[in-house]
Amino acid sequence: MASTATAAAPEVALKSGDARPMPAMGMGTASFPLDPEATKGAVLAAIEVGYRHFDTAYMYGTETPLGEAVAEAVRRGLVASREEVFVTSKLWCTQNHPDLVLPSLRETLKNLQMEYVDLYLIHWPVALKPGPISFPAKKEDAVPLDVEGVWRAMEECQRLGLAKAIGVSNFTTKHLDKVLAVATIPPAVNQVELNPLWQQRTLRNYCTEKGIHVAAYSPLGGQNWDGTGNAVMASEVLAGIAKARGKTVAQVALRWIYEQGVTSIVKSYNKERLKQNLEIFDWELTEEDRQKISKIPQKKIVRASGLFTQEGEFTSVDPADLDIVEE
Ligand SMILES: NC(=O)c1ccc[n+]([C@@H]2O[C@H](COP(=O)([O-])OP(=O)(O)OC[C@H]3O[C@@H](n4cnc5c(N)ncnc54)[C@H](OP(=O)(O)O)[C@@H]3O)[C@@H](O)[C@H]2O)c1
Repeated sequence: MASTATAAAPEVALKSGDARPMPAMGMGTASFPLDPEATKGAVLAAIEVGYRHFDTAYMYGTETPLGEAVAEAVRRGLVASREEVFVTSKLWCTQNHPDLVLPSLRETLKNLQMEYVDLYLIHWPVALKPGPISFPAKKEDAVPLDVEGVWRAMEECQRLGLAKAIGVSNFTTKHLDKVLAVATIPPAVNQVELNPLWQQRTLRNYCTEKGIHVAAYSPLGGQNWDGTGNAVMASEVLAGIAKARGKTVAQVALRWIYEQGVTSIVKSYNKERLKQNLEIFDWELTEEDRQKISKIPQKKIVRASGLFTQEGEFTSVDPADLDIVEE
């Protein structure tokens, strides 16, 4: 049966930049293999059920279908204008060079057919030699990241109004220290892997102290990125709570993330699951549920080292600087 619109997600005011408030549930568009028509259809379905926050990246190849879907939603009257949606995109590692930031954002805006993004993120604290994207990358293509130069260029993007807010992704507290040491505009957001199986307590505390909003990618454990299945969806602790509350495991994970003050970026291209994932704002976990979740053994899936092939050597960076893991 066709879904009807659900209530809108609550919104969070970012402490830096002048973006409109960020809806506390975003739809992710990283999906491999790339299928632009499926992405466009899923974004339209998401808008129909109430999503107003979308996450893309130059690297995903989904900027164009996302932009087409938003334009079509405006034409169809599903939203009054582009201003009603919050759009995030990201600078890929090959573009992570001071002189490439602004041209890369302009290319992103062309793909999106938009005048601005609400949020522009440095995708990883990793710089690769400029050139076409090859994934995974060769280790010898990693070069030192000019944090100060790249962040200055990100600030220029915000000053020009091409990005309403700027931030980072996959940055640890040590990476953030380096940005904050040079920033005149602090990062508004850090988007990281975060879910009940990888709770990021150290990073969350740090970001709260510094006024950086945390967004959770892979809030349901991801798309089996490391080939070991999905520890969130398979969690017996979460399944027990879901049964007791009359909710799904996905809803329990997303509700827990929301209760931590974190915005989830969840990917589904299925209209019923999109709708289900939005239905977490009118009920609560109990203190006992929260205690059980806090004791779940921790397991990180996404690592900077996964950006690179197994073969070859790092020649100009220390791999330990790329993949700092903090529980
Ligand atoms: N910044 C970064 O480096 C980074 C890295 C990874 C991801 N991201 C962003 O975060 C987004 C989400 O992360 P993710 O895609 O890794 O993983 P995720 O959102 O945790 O999980 C997505 C998977 O869960 C399934 N799913 C969604 N809702 C469900 C439900 N209610 N019940 C059961 N299964 C459900 C989806 O399948 P169906 O589509 O079939 O529903 C999909 O296979 C990405 O799309 C991307 O925008 C960012």
